[in-house]
Amino acid sequence: MQLKHFLQFKDLSRDELDYVFARTRWIKNEFKAYRRYWPLADRTLVMIFEKASTRTRLSFEAGMQQLGGSAIYLNTRDSQLGRGEPVEDAAQVISRMSDVVMIRTFEQEIIERFAGHSRVPVINGLTNEYHPCQILADIYTYIEQRGSIRGKTLAWIGDSNNVCNTWLQAAEVFDFNVHVSTPPGYEVEPERAGLYGTGHYEEFADPMQAAQGADLVTTDVWTSMGFEAENEERKRDFADWQVDAEMMAVAKPDALFMHCLPAHRGEEVAAEVIDGPHSVVWDEAENRLHVQKALLEYLLLGRVA
Ligand code: CP
Ligand code: NVA
Repeated sequence: MQLKHFLQFKDLSRDELDYVFARTRWIKNEFKAYRRYWPLADRTLVMIFEKASTRTRLSFEAGMQQLGGSAIYLNTRDSQLGRGEPVEDAAQVISRMSDVVMIRTFEQEIIERFAGHSRVPVINGLTNEYHPCQILADIYTYIEQRGSIRGKTLAWIGDSNNVCNTWLQAAEVFDFNVHVSTPPGYEVEPERAGLYGTGHYEEFADPMQAAQGADLVTTDVWTSMGFEAENEERKRDFADWQVDAEMMAVAKPDALFMHCLPAHRGEEVAAEVIDGPHSVVWDEAENRLHVQKALLEYLLLGRVA
């Protein structure tokens, strides 16, 4: 089988993603019915974390076990990764002892170097630039709740961070529109986002205008992991970029609200929105488990159905 990595959203084609979503539906149903499905028996996932995580660790670890395999957790603090072993050497060794690797790290370049020296598929569990597994779960959640996302409008309110960049890539793959509103100085960098062009997004100075008529409103923390030194400055700069009830009121009446979590109520989102009727954040979090199981199956076994 050809070695395939998932380092950024566009690494999989539209056709492959449709297949992964179809498998997600099936795998989720089996799981809900308590039917055992162990296609990855005797396979090992290694998870490398250089940043904190609740959802990503849990969904990959539980998911791998539910598929009959096992998962090993490594972090920078208590492995040689934190003591300067070259990433290329780590990739050679880790990929000789495992069947698939998931990495959460800082620069995208690190994961690309790792993948370049890995014998097994590498999955991006979040970098400074991208968070492809998150958007896989988010689009699956949208489809589950509302049907096709093609031609729909998503409003991104806040920082043009890893999650925003990944939505922008996904818009090109799935052909939907993104209305982005960031404070001045935090605008989208199309090259960093890995975009083919600017045809699928529009930037708005006013977040209310970005949310106008949207099918889906989403946001993320003002300060991402690794940028903590900017926290105080960002709190000032982002103060007007909160998704609140007034903002949801200008979106479509049946608009969904998403947030990758963890969230800061009273900062990027008001409690009345994240805990309100538009919010699907718990389904979104749960779907991390199901889509990643389908992704692991696809990267390790190819098309099985
Ligand atoms: N959304 C997400 O990736 O959450 P964690 O940081 O908890 O993994
Ligand atoms: N943008 C956030 C996402 C956390 C899941 C971060 O990188 O910290």
